[in-house]
Amino acid sequence: MSYYITTPIYYVNGEPHLGHVYTTVAVDVLARHMRQRGEDVFFLTGTDEHGEPVARAAEAQRVTPRELADKNAERFKEVARRVNATNDFFIRTSDPEHAAVVTDIVNRLKENGYVYKDLYEGWYCPRCADFKTENEILDGNRCPIHLIELDREHEENWFFKLSAFQERLEQLYVDNPAFVGPSTRYNEALAFIKSGLRDFSLSRSRISWGVPIPWDPEQVVYVWVDALLNYYSALSYAREGEDLTERFWPATVHVIAKDILKFHAVFWPALLMGADLAPPRRVFIHGYLLMDEHKMSKSLGNVLDPFAVMDTYGTDALRFYLLREVSFGQDGSISTAGFESRYTSELANEYGNLASRSLAMIAKYRDGVVPDSSASAELDDLFGDVAADVAAALDQIEVSAALELIWTRVRGLNRYVQDQAPWKLAKDPEQAEALDQILYGLAEGLRVVSVLLLPWMPETAERLLAALGSDDRSLECARLGAHGGGSTVGEVGQLFPRIEPPAET
Ligand code: MSP
Repeated sequence: MSYYITTPIYYVNGEPHLGHVYTTVAVDVLARHMRQRGEDVFFLTGTDEHGEPVARAAEAQRVTPRELADKNAERFKEVARRVNATNDFFIRTSDPEHAAVVTDIVNRLKENGYVYKDLYEGWYCPRCADFKTENEILDGNRCPIHLIELDREHEENWFFKLSAFQERLEQLYVDNPAFVGPSTRYNEALAFIKSGLRDFSLSRSRISWGVPIPWDPEQVVYVWVDALLNYYSALSYAREGEDLTERFWPATVHVIAKDILKFHAVFWPALLMGADLAPPRRVFIHGYLLMDEHKMSKSLGNVLDPFAVMDTYGTDALRFYLLREVSFGQDGSISTAGFESRYTSELANEYGNLASRSLAMIAKYRDGVVPDSSASAELDDLFGDVAADVAAALDQIEVSAALELIWTRVRGLNRYVQDQAPWKLAKDPEQAEALDQILYGLAEGLRVVSVLLLPWMPETAERLLAALGSDDRSLECARLGAHGGGSTVGEVGQLFPRIEPPAET
């Protein structure tokens, strides 16, 4: 089965922060998990480079938009590599191949009769690159997201007849109750549609940093139309000499935060329908990472530098923490104290110590060879069909719920060691078989949780699996008892060394 998953493409007007990393890591977890299931996966991320926000930021820094885009796109690529994202392609909307697709689709919308010229007037937020309706704006004509005062703008633009898609969009929602998730967001998007769709302008005349409107080169394609099309255009040129569109379109799921719900859940399917293309199968909306109760965002200045965080805690710890601390789909606060506490109590103590203790006992009591035995009924109960449960959760994009399912087993294994006290049995030769069973169960349990944890913590889980002498990484093998005894175990050292808190600056 093909599985095409995307992150939003990030604006290059600023540097990457932890909010961007959050989405990228969540999508990476899903992509890695689906590969473990043997699915045909394509994972796309990239940068949104055209439009007013970037043009303005470049002006303020006295560089050209292209220079700014080149510099920051590199930073976004670097952070994706650094968090171990396994994206299959990194799209930049300044790629000429992307622009060619935008030109083509905009032409098609016009040929299909969905484009006309009109005068636009309204409250415009240059940071959102979006006009706001009267009931969205805050007192003093301020942007509800950026809190800045909005400009009253009017200009002659080419319009997209969104209103022509009123019924088709409503039908799309009725036919596909999972089109938008979680369901609160589905209701929100549908309510927006039902409140009556208004046409929006497809072009901008005041800027030149963008893709020209093919029949009116004085104007450029509205940055949101340009940006959304990345999901479609990338497939046509991600692989040289190969067009992946047939294989991966429509996209399985676009993962985004709620700030850009309207564009993805309303504009995007309508644009695709207008160009005779299939809408995506699903849009999933996660919540905001908050710092001190506020959305982490560049404009509010409360951002954490992901590079600095990874220098301190390590990549896997960051990936784990983000998806553990905040229930995926809801807003949640993160903090340095929260990092430290989960790092110590869950990663170092529950997982790390369990691993080193178990390996040490196998080394000490059984010369480093996992005994041939079977897992106890107690462990069988604890594990159940955990792989199927994790898969079912991830089918619903429940990324933190899936992690919790695994963590319950990590905790259960800790309890098991504590209760069984193998170090006591080791003193009594009569108990050799019982000890075999415990050590086998621990090795198997650790193997299963580690295979399941690979998408969240690829480096650590891989290290532990290697130390367990196990080379199968498929979801298929994440079953207690799937491997027999006999493998020779190595050492893992400290999986999560004590961390020095970052120096105060
Ligand atoms: N360029 C547009 C998206 C175009 S997609 C066709 C854009 N870019 S952005 O740089 O502002 O990135 C927004 C996305 O970054 C959010 O939808 C979310 O995925 C992620 N996040 C940015 N800040 C975040 C938080 N504080 N918390 C959670 N996600 C965050 O919008």
